[in-house]
Amino acid sequence: VEHLNWFVRCNRILRDMEGSLTARDRVGIQDFVLLDAYTSESAVLDNLRKRFNENLIYTYIGTLLVSVNPYKELGIYTKKQMDIYMGVNFFELPPHIYALADNVYRTMLTETNNHFILISGESGAGKTEASKKILQFYAVSCPSTKLLDNVRDRLLLSNPVLEAFGNAKTLKNDNSSRFGKYMDIQFDHMGGAVGGHILSYLLEKSRVVHQNHGERSFHIFYQLVEGGEEDLLRWLGLERNCQRYSYLVQGECAKVSSVNDKSDWKTVRKALSVIEFSESNIESLFAIIASVLHLGNVTFVADSQGYATLNNSPEIHWLSKLLGIPAQVIQVGLTHRKIEARSEEVLSPFTVDQAVYAKDALAKAIYGRTFTWLVNELNESLANKDSSRKTVIGLLDIYGFEVFSVNSFEQFCINYCNEKLQQLFIQLTLKSEQEEYEMEGIEWESVPYFNNKIICDLVEEKFKGIISVLDEECLRPGEATDMTFLEKLEEKMGGHAHFITHKLADQKTRKTLERGDFRLLHYAGEVTYKIFHLQVMRQSKNAIVKHCFPSTEPDSKKRPETVATQFKSSLVGLTEVLMSKEPWYVRCMKPNEGKQPGLFDDVLVRHQVKYLGLMEHLRVRRAGFAYRRRYEIFLQRYKPLCPDTWPNWKGTAAEGVECLVKHLGYKPDEYKMGRTKIFIRHPRTLFATEDAFEVCKHELATRIQAKYKGYRVKGDYMRQRQAATKIETCWRGMKARREREKRAWAVKVIKRFIKGFMTRNQPACVDNTEYLAFVRQNYLTRLKENLPKTVVDKNTWLTPPPIMQEASQMLRKLYTRHMVRRYVQGIMTERKAQLQLKGLTSSIFKGTKENYPHSVGIPFVDTRISKPHTFPQYSVPVVKYDRNGFRPRFRQLIYTGSAAYLVEEAKIKQRVEFNNLKGVSVSTLSDNFLILHVQCEDIKQKGDLVLQCDYLFEALTKLCLVANKHNFIKVVQGSVKFDIQPGREGFVDFKSGQETMIYRAKNGHLMVVSMKLKTVWPFNSQNEQIHFLNYY
Ligand SMILES: Nc1ncnc2c1ncn2[C@@H]1O[C@H](COP(=O)(O)OP(=O)(O)OP(=O)(O)O)[C@@H](O)[C@H]1O
Ligand SMILES: [Mg+2]
Repeated sequence: VEHLNWFVRCNRILRDMEGSLTARDRVGIQDFVLLDAYTSESAVLDNLRKRFNENLIYTYIGTLLVSVNPYKELGIYTKKQMDIYMGVNFFELPPHIYALADNVYRTMLTETNNHFILISGESGAGKTEASKKILQFYAVSCPSTKLLDNVRDRLLLSNPVLEAFGNAKTLKNDNSSRFGKYMDIQFDHMGGAVGGHILSYLLEKSRVVHQNHGERSFHIFYQLVEGGEEDLLRWLGLERNCQRYSYLVQGECAKVSSVNDKSDWKTVRKALSVIEFSESNIESLFAIIASVLHLGNVTFVADSQGYATLNNSPEIHWLSKLLGIPAQVIQVGLTHRKIEARSEEVLSPFTVDQAVYAKDALAKAIYGRTFTWLVNELNESLANKDSSRKTVIGLLDIYGFEVFSVNSFEQFCINYCNEKLQQLFIQLTLKSEQEEYEMEGIEWESVPYFNNKIICDLVEEKFKGIISVLDEECLRPGEATDMTFLEKLEEKMGGHAHFITHKLADQKTRKTLERGDFRLLHYAGEVTYKIFHLQVMRQSKNAIVKHCFPSTEPDSKKRPETVATQFKSSLVGLTEVLMSKEPWYVRCMKPNEGKQPGLFDDVLVRHQVKYLGLMEHLRVRRAGFAYRRRYEIFLQRYKPLCPDTWPNWKGTAAEGVECLVKHLGYKPDEYKMGRTKIFIRHPRTLFATEDAFEVCKHELATRIQAKYKGYRVKGDYMRQRQAATKIETCWRGMKARREREKRAWAVKVIKRFIKGFMTRNQPACVDNTEYLAFVRQNYLTRLKENLPKTVVDKNTWLTPPPIMQEASQMLRKLYTRHMVRRYVQGIMTERKAQLQLKGLTSSIFKGTKENYPHSVGIPFVDTRISKPHTFPQYSVPVVKYDRNGFRPRFRQLIYTGSAAYLVEEAKIKQRVEFNNLKGVSVSTLSDNFLILHVQCEDIKQKGDLVLQCDYLFEALTKLCLVANKHNFIKVVQGSVKFDIQPGREGFVDFKSGQETMIYRAKNGHLMVVSMKLKTVWPFNSQNEQIHFLNYY
């Protein structure tokens, strides 16, 4: 996926690029290899100028980057620019230092090997800036984690610290590196920057005590004096005025417009704490810087014998305080030389000149060793303690070749260093490259180049070189003076094409040389050097000083190495470090000597083009091959691109590569097959192959991924299936166990149940309590479900088990009461009145008259005749039987408040006052006869009334109510005697028969035969209330 993303990104950038590669970017050509007149210096110069005028400061020669210092901000180092260059093929975007940085990084990751970027050019050409840009690019483009960010910050912040202590304003450059720096950035296999290491080379210490006109000492002094906090300055005994310190005023330019000492001080202070310098170390560090300033102000006067003595100056006090050395020791140390004579130490006094020299030497030594200590501390902070394998990218930013009007020993070293690096460059790009073509049997026409080995030898050759002579002179016993050294040089080097002195020079040249000078014809130009001048810090309490000047110097007995020899060996060491890595080059150039933007000095640039070896490099690149790899490695990487070589090639690697490139369609002039390597002419061929490989890798990865996924999913499936089976088994087991337990329990319960059943009639005991409880509960539950629905339902009652007999009866009573109460509460007033009426009826007739039960179901009504008479209480149709002869006649019986009337069609036939009503008789049988017995005083009055009424019970009950006579109804068995008229009696006989008959019997009685009715309660829902009343 990462690769796919990368690919998509590349394509996007490519597309963007099409648009973004503006006409401006196309000014001139971006790669000198494409220059037609590639052998013409002028054409190269033209191209550089054209591009420079468009602010295009970068141009390639193959993978080498040429950079021309613009001396102005171009706005091409933004985060956006970094993003554009991240992960894009080298030649796809306009040349940039980021493209180079990215390419190095990516090559390191894919090939897992070490690289270094050699940044060269003369002083002020932009080497340090370039190295910073590269570091910044890595800081942004590398993977980021909390830990990595910490390392990143330290790497970035080591720069301002080192620059403060190791850079100074010179005539050539306001921020000139006065030491050489090689920095390793270590990456883990994921490409995260995990650590770093810095090697520093010969610091120009003489600058501490002396600066040429227009130059300054190291930035840190000015930063401290200008920016240091009041408290700090007071503690260090310093004043905020550079002019007060003789070591800072020699160049007469303590202030520089392009340098802001105050803000730089803040940056350095912050950096020191991020890099985790302890506060006490920081204190000691500034104590040393201050003590150097104090030392500079120490002056000597000659005593009567001409020996140096110290004025009792405050400087000694401050030195003693800051360095932690007794004032006495300092005093003696500065004015005496210690001579070891046999086993004794003898102090020999200095002259004033010697004392000044000793003082300066001390200042330089203190500063120099402190600088070394600082680098070690930085390394400590940058060190990656993890021992896993890392790859590194080295950044080499060394002081550039420089020529001043007066050039001292340090310039000699600096220029010698540049010679060495040039030699390395020649060796790696020109010499070994061409040798390789020959070795590999590739047809090749040699490109001539200037090999500066001759100059390197002049300086460093054993027993013959300048350094050797210097060593000898310094260390040999006896008086060595500057002149004896020069003579020695003339003796040894006389006749060397690159070495001239006043004596050796021809007439014309002699004029330009002083007697005490010698001149070297460096590859980059001629430099005239002043002949080098050919000498007490063991008790210090300052922690850093103590560390830098250990009380016993190791191997102090051994013949000491001179500084020059030390430097020479350190350069040999550097060459070894570099030779083990893949080289990349940035060649920096100055457009003019005046640090001016927009000014392109043809002569100056042409000179640099020449001595930087760009022409030769271009020629070799043009004719040569951009890329070469051993067959084995090439095949191993790209074999997936050809079906014949994938996955394994059976033949030799060379044959495999041949087959592979044929398959890839390489044209014959695009590549050459060497003895052990394949040579590819153009980078684009390789990039195309690499792109194809990326795609293919992706496909392969997809296939492998698919297989692996399948394998994993299958594994998962199997595991899940096993798990399912196991769960199932467990589940089934558990279910079976539960089932068994349930059954066992059930058996027990059933057994107990049976036993309980068998002993159910015995007195309560252990065996039957449970059963009985069950029976009880069961009965009660069933009873609850089967309770009688109505009050009158007297049959529905669940038969109780024997033990529940009594309870059942009580419950039944309770329930009935409950139902009754509920019923009674639910009855309406009207209905109640009606029922009370029925109740009255019942109290009269219940159990006495045979057809009474049949009447119960028929509700009473207010009246039975639709048109009631005025104010009647009740009216009902009746059949009246004549008292004489018993003829039936239809009449209405009407009650008013005080009397009953017998009416025939609105004609009152007979009126009976209730007061006159003696009683009413009815039979016990099922007939509907009633006889009203009337009080008869008068013969004229009519007699008793014999009536038949279908609504007998209703009519009689109403009569009782209206007449307010309750006990005047008699239920008579057999026959009823009645008065026909006062004194004359009649009889009605009642009996039961097969059918209803009413007739006059032979005996003159009225015979009423009624059918015998069964006395069954005709229950139904309509009249249940009445029944209930009866019951109640
Ligand atoms: N790419 C750049 N863009 C803008 N300004 C630059 C660039 N490179 C260099 N400069 C300017 O040039 C000055 C000198 O550059 P730098 O310090 O890198 O030179 P150098 O090659 O390291 O010199 P020395 O050998 O003296 O250390 C910088 O301070 C800066 O002002
Ligand atoms: Mg520099």
